[in-house]
Amino acid sequence: MLDTASNRQTDWIERAKGVLPGGGFGNFDPSLVIREGHGAKVVDEDGNEYIDYLIGSGPMLLGHGHPEVLEAVHAQLSKGMTFFANNAAGIELAEVIVDAMPCAEQLRYVSTGGEADMYAMRLARAHTGREVIVKFEGGYHGMSADALMNTFPKGNADYPKAQPDTAGIPAAVQASMRVCPYNDFEYVADLMAKEGDQVAAIIVEPLQRIVPPKAGFLQHLRDLADKYGAVLIFDEVVTGFRFSYQGAQGLYGVTPDLCTLGKTIGGGLPLAAIAGQSEIMRHFDATATDRFVLQIGTLSGNPLAAVAGLKTLEVLSREGQYERLTQVGLRLQTALSESLSKRQIAHQIVGEASLFDVVFSDKPIENYRDVARGDAEAAKMFNKVLRDEGILKSPSKIYPHLGLSDDDVLKTISAFETAAEHLAAR
Ligand SMILES: Cc1ncc(COP(=O)(O)O)c(C=O)c1O
Repeated sequence: MLDTASNRQTDWIERAKGVLPGGGFGNFDPSLVIREGHGAKVVDEDGNEYIDYLIGSGPMLLGHGHPEVLEAVHAQLSKGMTFFANNAAGIELAEVIVDAMPCAEQLRYVSTGGEADMYAMRLARAHTGREVIVKFEGGYHGMSADALMNTFPKGNADYPKAQPDTAGIPAAVQASMRVCPYNDFEYVADLMAKEGDQVAAIIVEPLQRIVPPKAGFLQHLRDLADKYGAVLIFDEVVTGFRFSYQGAQGLYGVTPDLCTLGKTIGGGLPLAAIAGQSEIMRHFDATATDRFVLQIGTLSGNPLAAVAGLKTLEVLSREGQYERLTQVGLRLQTALSESLSKRQIAHQIVGEASLFDVVFSDKPIENYRDVARGDAEAAKMFNKVLRDEGILKSPSKIYPHLGLSDDDVLKTISAFETAAEHLAAR
């Protein structure tokens, strides 16, 4: 069992309640206060250790504190953390990303994935001179007003009308967004037939949260964007350098016009980017076009994040890394499915090897509503038992990573068994 003798964590939780709305940063369960992370493990303020599948919500693909990344960051620290000016590390990282990502001819840095998505949509509007953006129900693209439409809708919202996920969104933004069911070929085609000449962009998570694209769906979006002169944006904030060294566009073999990147490219430090065709990216250059997109950010391209990203990508580029990541992911998926199947617990393992979760449902999962129809109580119990067993994950994702040892994987598989036993005993 986990050690809960000390009450240090309780003290921090109380202090957080005094100064943070809802007692938290808005991200993860505020009843957990993490003290440190090393390799595959994080330790909370009470000293409890967890095998970490949250990994900072994705960025720590090499595990926490990878020695080579730390060395690169330490070396940069004494030379300066941020300059608000071009620097060699940022330029070199841009070259590496442009080399790797099929759609990328140029890139522009920002600090967060949400900003990258906001600028990608703005860039598409500037490029096409149109306003409408098409997104997918349940697709997450950060916190901009445009993006926060039908990401977490309750019940069955009416397509294609956009419904804000949050208070504070101007009606004009809402009116410029359209929403489609993910993986629905016909729905998007019909919408584009009606409104395609006003559509600036189709933005999509190539794997939406955990739901993979049906065969041909991304190519269908590519074809529709081409037919109607819209920009196709892949949000690769999660999938970039995770699904392959060429991202989801490499894995699925469809090249968008623009992609957004974050998480892995900063190696755990704040860095994200919009990357794509020069013809569209040139709108960031005031001298190149009269539809200039103004873009400034204090920390954009900071050298500390750039060296962390550079080293992370260098490690990922070495032979066998993605094979290992895939093997670990598949091993976890197979074990989890076996534990549940042998107890006749209806479930679907949804996702790719390097990002997935279980949905407790007897139906195949194709979109947001299929996920929402899953047994939420079962998912809650599954996550809780895992946490009690020392396995940390997001409520709706498992992020396999390269920090995991064989022993970590075996312990996780044993925790899956315990969770399945609890579920069977409900
Ligand atoms: C697909 C996707 N896009 C964008 C974002 C936003 O990135 P950030 O949290 O860095 O703003 C996230 C964050 O989880 C994401 O998963």
